[in-house]
Amino acid sequence: MFTEGEVGKMMRDCIRLLYERRSVRRFKEDDVDDTTIIELLESANSAPSAGNLQPRDFIIVRDPEIKADLSRAALNQRFISRAPVVIVVVANFPRSMNTYGERGYLYAIQDCSAAIQNLLLAATAMGLGTCWVGAFDEEMVSQILDLPDYTRPMAIIPVGYPADRGHRTGRKKIEELIHRERW
Ligand SMILES: Cc1cc2nc3c(=O)[nH]c(=O)nc-3n(C[C@H](O)[C@H](O)[C@H](O)COP(=O)(O)O)c2cc1C
Repeated sequence: MFTEGEVGKMMRDCIRLLYERRSVRRFKEDDVDDTTIIELLESANSAPSAGNLQPRDFIIVRDPEIKADLSRAALNQRFISRAPVVIVVVANFPRSMNTYGERGYLYAIQDCSAAIQNLLLAATAMGLGTCWVGAFDEEMVSQILDLPDYTRPMAIIPVGYPADRGHRTGRKKIEELIHRERW
């Protein structure tokens, strides 16, 4: 069990982390070793998962040619190929749909999203920079990575040590998004 002081500190650290995370699109050339990447993926996969079926797969890309292909598939977002490591999160639909039917399709996407957000936060805590890239030609990415046809790539995430801090983006006033009791 944690003491009250420990819980307070954990809460403050956690909330600070949420605000610290930002999209990083410039990376140092320094490599990110495999132990760090595996730790990152363990953190990602510790996210909630419907029925704990974990219908999410992670592809680690280091090959410069494959990274360049992914960049092209992502509407020429060149910063992708400039990161030392790129992780592609892939929804593995049968792993969820075999149990949950059609609803499992939605669960797989939600499970991937939860893992992606965990990954971004864990990376921030580890001093790494990331960006959630969703704008890409899905067919091209599937072909580049030899994805089975029962999967869909959900996000391309370049990972590296940040060359700059990026900038803090604003958000809508929370009251614009909140409904009370009913829509
Ligand atoms: C589903 C999704 C798709 C995104 N796709 C891209 C993308 O293709 N390229 C990019 O540079 N950023 C992309 N982003 C990052 C957003 O631009 C970024 O999160 C937003 O501007 C807020 O900035 P912040 O992440 O620094 O807080 C995406 C984010 C999400 C959640």
